Amino acid sequence: MATVKEKLIENLVKEESCAQSKITIVGCGAVGMACAISILLKGLTDELALIDVMEDKLKGEMMDLQHGSLFFSTPKIVSGKDSRVSVNSKIVVVTAGARQQEGESRLNLVQRNVNILKLIIPDIVKNSPDCKIIVVSNPVDILTYVTWKLSGLPKNCIIGSGTNLDSARFRFLIGSRLGVNPTSCHGWVIGEHGDSSVPVWSGVNIAGVPLKNLHPTLGTDDDKEQWKTVHRQVVESAYEVIKLKGYTSWAIGLSVADLVRTMMNNLRRVHPVCTLIKGLYGITEDVFLSVPCVLGLNGITDIVKLKLSTEEEQHLKKSAETLWNVQKDLTF
Ligand SMILES: NC(=O)c1ccc[n+]([C@@H]2O[C@H](COP(=O)([O-])OP(=O)(O)OC[C@H]3O[C@@H](n4cnc5c(N)ncnc54)[C@H](O)[C@@H]3O)[C@@H](O)[C@H]2O)c1
Repeated sequence: MATVKEKLIENLVKEESCAQSKITIVGCGAVGMACAISILLKGLTDELALIDVMEDKLKGEMMDLQHGSLFFSTPKIVSGKDSRVSVNSKIVVVTAGARQQEGESRLNLVQRNVNILKLIIPDIVKNSPDCKIIVVSNPVDILTYVTWKLSGLPKNCIIGSGTNLDSARFRFLIGSRLGVNPTSCHGWVIGEHGDSSVPVWSGVNIAGVPLKNLHPTLGTDDDKEQWKTVHRQVVESAYEVIKLKGYTSWAIGLSVADLVRTMMNNLRRVHPVCTLIKGLYGITEDVFLSVPCVLGLNGITDIVKLKLSTEEEQHLKKSAETLWNVQKDLTF
């Protein structure tokens, strides 16, 4: 007896997963779901897989998104506790893990989140050996290193979201001061995501006009306009938002979706993301920090070498030392 589906549709072929641009999100908390909705609304994937250990919450999030299917162009959304649901992913976004408590530094989270990655990463790679992994969980620089080690994948395949968000905050704040849209305010925050990040004041420009040329004390202690506070605000942003609403989500979700767009569409745009920086700026250890990177389907294909001042370079080296001191004692 033919089913309604068989009566309706000629040449019925067995439905198989033949996704071309599958994306998996591991960790469906505030950040994971902000990444999910941003990716869906940009139409970047034909199959979205969600993984989390909290089964009821996971199923609820999946159903809630599925019920919105009419309003985006991703035909398939799946979820599961088991990483088999991620099979054949092009990009895997890792947001699983504990989040900062009010006033807690990112570095404090480290061993708790390393233990979680140990459970996740090997299985993810088993199911999608050709995937690229975007690490978002904090402390992101160290966890990007840990993911690289656990995955066995080449370094170009592992991307930490790094200072992509810090740079977005920096450009927003510069734009607010100048009354210019942030997309026209160019500036890079590099190094560690968060507390010891480095603003590259020499590169801040609007339409190619370096602000440092107009105002030589820009970003220094002698600056009467105190532009340095813009970077301080960037560093304090996450703490402030966490204090106010309990967590950060929308900006990180949007910024991750922007990375995914560049990679999926092989745009080769340059983003400040976290990569293995050994050999650059006198750094000799296996440390991951953010620098401008060319991104595409193959992940990070090139690093743009910024000309840094002696002070900026020293700052970067100090971050690398801080991270290495934590990293070298990790067990994984
Ligand atoms: N890199 C950045 O710029 C940035 C910005 C914001 C937050 N974060 C980080 O992102 C992470 C997530 O933050 P959040 O606010 O979404 O936290 P959250 O607590 O809301 O969500 C974390 C989710 O991870 C899940 N999880 C835990 N162990 C798991 C496992 N083994 N497998 C699968 N899922 C697992 C939890 O069940 C939870 O749903 C934190 O580490 C946070 O610090 C990073």
